[in-house]
Amino acid sequence: METITPTDRPTAATRFPRGPASTRLELRAATAAVHERLHHLPAFAAIAEGRLGVAAYGRLLLALHDFHGSLAGAADAACAVLGADALRAAGARRRELLRADLEAVGASAPGGAEPIALGGARAVGCLYTILGSTLGGKLIHRQLDYLFAGAAGRRFFAGAPDDGARWRDFGIRLDAYGRGLDDLTGLVEGAHVAFRHFAACVERHS
Ligand code: HEM
Repeated sequence: METITPTDRPTAATRFPRGPASTRLELRAATAAVHERLHHLPAFAAIAEGRLGVAAYGRLLLALHDFHGSLAGAADAACAVLGADALRAAGARRRELLRADLEAVGASAPGGAEPIALGGARAVGCLYTILGSTLGGKLIHRQLDYLFAGAAGRRFFAGAPDDGARWRDFGIRLDAYGRGLDDLTGLVEGAHVAFRHFAACVERHS
């Protein structure tokens, strides 16, 4: 598994001109391959097959805790860029759910993760990846029926009832932001930094 640094680029010297489609759809296309690869990470594949045990699930939560902790500052910076205070509050609530799940499975939440500082378009691209992960999280929440009888332990993946509305609001803000950019390179880089950091966090806790 490759390690990443905040300065990683999706591919060397790649530029992403702004096309006529929505910025969000362009980001989706530019990250489709790395997103698809995450589905094959052993922990997610094992959840999909109903065979990840509680201890390994706890390690996955620790990886998520690292991921969201280290990118919390970048996510907040992106919310400021987009003028989206409600998204910032939702992010903080999401991190609280994660800590509650860690406690529920008996894994202790470690101290603060090393922050990854991103600003401007790269922070917004990073927020795209962070927020988009709530969509897949709903699916994972259902897959976890085999491990949990109730809500405890999988509240993070369940997310909040207004996640869909938040995602749509983000998409509108992202498209408006993208229309003001000459190209989408910074956005795509930020989204890739987050995807690759996710894979690195999972690897670290495997
Ligand atoms: C096995 C794990 C995962 C599964 C099964 C999964 C599944 C999905 C699904 C089904 C959607 C589309 C939802 C919709 O269109 O309504 C989605 C969207 C998305 N997911 Fe995942 N996901 C997983 C992990 C992740 C992770 C770990 C991240 C980020 C670190 C992520 C980032 C995203 C993003 C950014 C989108 C939005 C794509 C768009 O612009 O439409 N996913 N995911």
